[in-house]
Amino acid sequence: MQTRRLTPADLETAAQILRQGGLVAFPTETVYGLGADATNARAVAAIFVAKDRPRFNPLIVHVQDLDQARHYAEFPAAALALARAFWPGPLTLLLEARPGTAIAPITRAGLDRIALRVPRHPVARALLAAAGIPVAAPSANRSGRISPTRAEHVLATLDGRIDAVLDAGACPVGLESTIVGFEPDGPVLHRPGGIPAEAIEALLGHRLAAPDAGTVAAPGQIASHYAPAARLRLDADAPLPGEAWLGFGPDFVDAPQVNLSASGDLVEAAANLFAALHDIDRLALHESLHGIAVASIPQTGLGRAINDRLQRAAAPRPPGA
Ligand code: TXA
Ligand code: MG
Repeated sequence: MQTRRLTPADLETAAQILRQGGLVAFPTETVYGLGADATNARAVAAIFVAKDRPRFNPLIVHVQDLDQARHYAEFPAAALALARAFWPGPLTLLLEARPGTAIAPITRAGLDRIALRVPRHPVARALLAAAGIPVAAPSANRSGRISPTRAEHVLATLDGRIDAVLDAGACPVGLESTIVGFEPDGPVLHRPGGIPAEAIEALLGHRLAAPDAGTVAAPGQIASHYAPAARLRLDADAPLPGEAWLGFGPDFVDAPQVNLSASGDLVEAAANLFAALHDIDRLALHESLHGIAVASIPQTGLGRAINDRLQRAAAPRPPGA
């Protein structure tokens, strides 16, 4: 793939690539983000391919303003106050997704919460307005590398792996957004960043809590977080009696089933994964089956992230979870 070098004069081209499901790295006030249409599961799956990420981390959804953000999530009073004070700007709010939201499940890595942010950078804002879609974007670097604050940094690890980079020079903040979530006990600081915690605390009139150790700082890491009700059996050759089948590839089995990708395409399988887990679980329940047998998924490319997530879904649940 040839990565196109675009400038703010090519904004409409960048917006069109995003609307068509492509990947565009774009500047925000914090760092360059690697953007894709947050409602398009395949486009979001392609972010994980480009970044070579071994896991499906949930992604921040970038929107134009508070009104658009309220389409996708519920805003408790404290969240509204923070959004009104700090948006547009380097603040990400972690909120309960609205039921039936258009945001693809893979964007949230199957979680109930969605991370939303309204960036302040004029080029990011113009791009979001021109594209007219919510844009999922992690930092635009290969997995395990440093977040990019210039277009050259993006190209250093992603050249040839993404459709375009929109070059608007250096990012003014250079530090990722501050992430705040909302628990029944009050707001929680999940990641320090571009908006100082003190500024947020001054506005709220009280201190931000620290996230519970191990639970929220790395939500994707909780082993059983995505466990369906039925038990998963991985790397299966075929379903046993009493099992539903989560297939991959053109396999024929005589059981209630959902297929991640009949053609054996890992990007399609990744895009379908979270919805497929829900569907197969519902199907198993409906058919009174006790388990779900899962076809083996190759441990290459996105297959690693798919297997990682399936292993978490299959892990024994801690008591009470
Ligand atoms: O400044 C920023 O926030 C930049 C620019 C591009 O906006 N983005 C960024 O994205 O830093 P990323 O993917 O490198 O970091 C996002 C963090 C991750 O730690 C992820 O786990 C967390 O946000 N996150 C995103 N969605 C979440 C969700 N639904 N639940 C919990 N954590 C979430
Ligand atoms: Mg990052």
